[in-house]
Amino acid sequence: MQTPVSGFSKLSKKEKIAWIVKTHFHNTTEAKNIVEQYWNEEDQLQQLHDDFIENTISNYYLPLGVAPNFNINGKLYTIPMAIEESSVVAAAAKAAKYWGDRGGFKTEILGEEKIGQIHFIYKGDANKLEHFIAKIKDQLREDVSEITTNMEKRGGGIRSIELRNKTALIENYFQLHLCFLTVDSMGANFINSCLEVIAKRLQHYIQEESIFTEEEKEVEIVMSILSNYVPNCIAKASVSCPIEALEQEEGLSKQAFAEKFVRAINIAQKEPFRAVTHNKGIMNGVDAVVIATGNDFRAVEAGVHAYAARNGQYTSLSHAYIAEDSLHFELELPLAIGTVGGLTNLHPLVKWSLELLGHPSAKDLMQIITVAGLAQNFAAIRSLVTSGIQKGHMKMHLLNILNQLNATPAQKEAAVTFFKTNPVSHSAVANFLEKNNA
Ligand code: MEV
Repeated sequence: MQTPVSGFSKLSKKEKIAWIVKTHFHNTTEAKNIVEQYWNEEDQLQQLHDDFIENTISNYYLPLGVAPNFNINGKLYTIPMAIEESSVVAAAAKAAKYWGDRGGFKTEILGEEKIGQIHFIYKGDANKLEHFIAKIKDQLREDVSEITTNMEKRGGGIRSIELRNKTALIENYFQLHLCFLTVDSMGANFINSCLEVIAKRLQHYIQEESIFTEEEKEVEIVMSILSNYVPNCIAKASVSCPIEALEQEEGLSKQAFAEKFVRAINIAQKEPFRAVTHNKGIMNGVDAVVIATGNDFRAVEAGVHAYAARNGQYTSLSHAYIAEDSLHFELELPLAIGTVGGLTNLHPLVKWSLELLGHPSAKDLMQIITVAGLAQNFAAIRSLVTSGIQKGHMKMHLLNILNQLNATPAQKEAAVTFFKTNPVSHSAVANFLEKNNA
């Protein structure tokens, strides 16, 4: 049985690996080699990655692909996508071409507000607290001016401070609910720093104020933290074209395709099991760009799914309808992302991805990400209501299967040609390799 290790974080990287392989692996040499083969030879680059997190022992690669030809509001973008799933990048590129030929993607920003909350316990008269907070609000802003001055110069800062009485949920539970503008940064550190100072000042002012009883003065700050739910930080992307201008799908009239497409979206709006998978397809595009641009995909995922359930039932994030003989398809996403700060100035591939996108502002990037989500969703639904998803997916997955089966370069080449006209499956590829094992 394994025993706990003490002082692990103090060990050198080599010592950490030595302990890990000795205590967890049968073939220690192989385990060590696998981890070490991903080290970067260039010391400085490796050090940079080592410093991102704690106990770094190696690098975990994801492929970085690009999807070109995205026409967004008349401007062309090549979108970087970091993702392990085959067929996502191909689908994005295909959807970009499809809608590029039909007027392109239209986008807009519907809001940019971020949220932070101070959760606290106050045992006393709520009205008294409310009047007092109204009185000290300006002072609280002043108390964080050292943190907010620079952000204000860039057009951001604290937008509002509001007391929320949550005693119906939990006895004596109140919040100070703050709205922020963080311009081009995601703003997590900025928001959390402001909240922690304000929380301390709030506690102090209440303690010093004679209108409060001794019990009321005992305010307990439970926690101060931003919210990853950002329903007022929204980008919208849409496409539309006359049904007549849609591509001809095999075995379906253009009208029938448009109707089937809308029906598929309606199913995702009404039916949570389908909605989750539908939205997962959207997130294939979203996360890939969020990761490539060094943003926090966990924050985006959490916020997006909360938004999808904002009316009490989990539902589709995208909408489609037919009006005046045109197909309309749109997506709204809450996205707290940034193009400055965090990894954006540190990770060379993140910097590269942002340059590829033409150094977007956070608002630009929100729109690009939403387009990536809409494009991915279009590609998935288009396949699902026509040929089915597996045909295209398995074609793209072919190389993974060939690699799994240790195909030689010559076998791979022959297989790619053969499976252009034959259905791909694991067993079909295995049979092919057996017959072509020269
Ligand atoms: C697979 O990664 C994503 C899809 O399942 C999305 C969908 O069903 O809409 C194809």
